Amino acid sequence: SGNVSGLGRAIGFKSVPMAAVDTVVVPEGYSTQVLYRWGDPTGIAGAMPAFKTDGSNTAEEQALQAGMHHDGMAFFPLEGSNRGLLVLNHEYVDDGLLHPDGMKTWTPEKVRKSMNAHGVSVIELQRDSAGKWTQLAPSRFARRVTALTPMTLTGPAAGHAMLRTAADPSGTQVLGTFNNCANGHTPWGTYLTCEENFADYFEGTDTPDAHQKRWGIKKGNGAKYRWHEHEARFDVSKHPNESNRYGWVVEIDPQDPTSTPRKRTALGRAAHEGAATALTNDGRAVIYMGEDSRFEYIYKFVSRDAVKPGGAAANRDLLDHGTLYVARFDVDGTGEWLPLVQGKGGLVADKGFTTQGDVLIKARQASDLLGATKMDRPEWTTVDPLTKEVYCTLTNNSNRGGAGQPFMDAANPRSNNTMGQIIRWKETGDLDATKFAWNHLVLAGDPKQSRYEAQGNIKGDTFGSPDGLMVDARGVLWIETDVSTSTLGKGEYANLPNNQMLACDPTKGEIRRFLLGPAGCEITGLTATPDLRTLFINIQHPGEPANERSDPERPLAVSKWPDGAGRPRSATIAITKNDGGVIGT
Ligand code: FEO
Ligand code: CA
Ligand code: CA
Ligand code: CA
Repeated sequence: SGNVSGLGRAIGFKSVPMAAVDTVVVPEGYSTQVLYRWGDPTGIAGAMPAFKTDGSNTAEEQALQAGMHHDGMAFFPLEGSNRGLLVLNHEYVDDGLLHPDGMKTWTPEKVRKSMNAHGVSVIELQRDSAGKWTQLAPSRFARRVTALTPMTLTGPAAGHAMLRTAADPSGTQVLGTFNNCANGHTPWGTYLTCEENFADYFEGTDTPDAHQKRWGIKKGNGAKYRWHEHEARFDVSKHPNESNRYGWVVEIDPQDPTSTPRKRTALGRAAHEGAATALTNDGRAVIYMGEDSRFEYIYKFVSRDAVKPGGAAANRDLLDHGTLYVARFDVDGTGEWLPLVQGKGGLVADKGFTTQGDVLIKARQASDLLGATKMDRPEWTTVDPLTKEVYCTLTNNSNRGGAGQPFMDAANPRSNNTMGQIIRWKETGDLDATKFAWNHLVLAGDPKQSRYEAQGNIKGDTFGSPDGLMVDARGVLWIETDVSTSTLGKGEYANLPNNQMLACDPTKGEIRRFLLGPAGCEITGLTATPDLRTLFINIQHPGEPANERSDPERPLAVSKWPDGAGRPRSATIAITKNDGGVIGT
């Protein structure tokens, strides 16, 4: 079933040359369509406020519109490839664009608007016979999940003392999700959204304890989003446990807009990036997760039970029972999954791990103790449906090998790693194996750079800072880049002024540029219709300036994408081939 129309992994398009552009560029013979920009109505019946170009929509209106900074995304078919639900993350906000006067004044209303511009959207899309997509609005599925939406903590850590707060003595009821970066989707029809840089939202204290230090909860964090000024739960001095209620993978049933999202503690706590899901031969769920932070880890969860027929309702508790592992990559090209299980491998009461909840909430400390491999910022994971090889982007790590920092190792082989690499592994046996063999698909880089470590070994087009990653149903590996806006076009990225998407046949290793994004954007979000005739991606933060994004004095628009005027807006785009063919052929 992996070979759509028997096409195999063949790549047929002509490479797009790198250039500084403020538009989306795709190969000859392809078209793009802009859908669901920041501020477009989500399609909730009777509540579809129009976008105001000066940023003057209210907080209440923002909760009924597309959030900002679109990121991970999945297409759930309703009628084959012609109608479906698109579920997407809104990672964070640019307060300079979100309000008419940026952050010049700061009010409870602005905090609520920021919170409502975070989270997840569920929208309904339909394709016509010419291949054009329309957002169906109103739609009975339309939904916004925000940083204020009630959700439940489930699994072994639910109710743990470290998760209890003044507002929730039960330690099970949380308001909202935010910094939702990458994602996953399950064979039983649910969406997984991953809470990444949650620490940036919590104003810490001058005297952080060891746990807060390990998780980056420190004084000054709150300056970025300033939620704590009007929402006391983000002030760690008043509510020390609130931050422990973030950093989870959240499961959402997109078919039921009244369902309560569930934070699945069995999958562990991390600055979660993605959650690529596959099945063992006997039908248990296996979820691969990267933690995008310098010198953090790669995780795998294996469910205890097999997936049952009957969709989300039949599998409501599946992700509450199973085993979490962290990866150790050894120098000989093998590796081991180390179980994060209380009582095993020294995870005992003396070391601060009395219960499985302790292990899951303090997954970083537990992984440190087990001797897992400290990676170069693990971003997206993806499983090749044909070979079951797993890929992970290690986006970059300029601290690698620096003074007082971890040294290079076989899996993270370059000092001052500005360019990043893509690592892959194959389990020794079924996907629940505890041993694997690994190598690098590619070390990213630019052969024109003078520093050896920045040159890489790409066969094909130049790129750095790989982030979004997906092997499609016919086995083509799609790679999206997220070079930070402070780096694009500068230094070792002098020849790379824009972010991009590339395609690779991983059996051959050749990498070819498919798409360029507008100025100052990141390319992210990656999902396809089952027929592979539409690829949806997200253009995140077009026009993001290299200076402080919330500075109200900075020029509003480095980019005018996608409207050609006014404020730049993150948006989803649909990519189709003009002859109706499979994308990438
Ligand atoms: Fe939100 Fe790791 O990118
Ligand atoms: Ca990312
Ligand atoms: Ca990134
Ligand atoms: Ca981003």
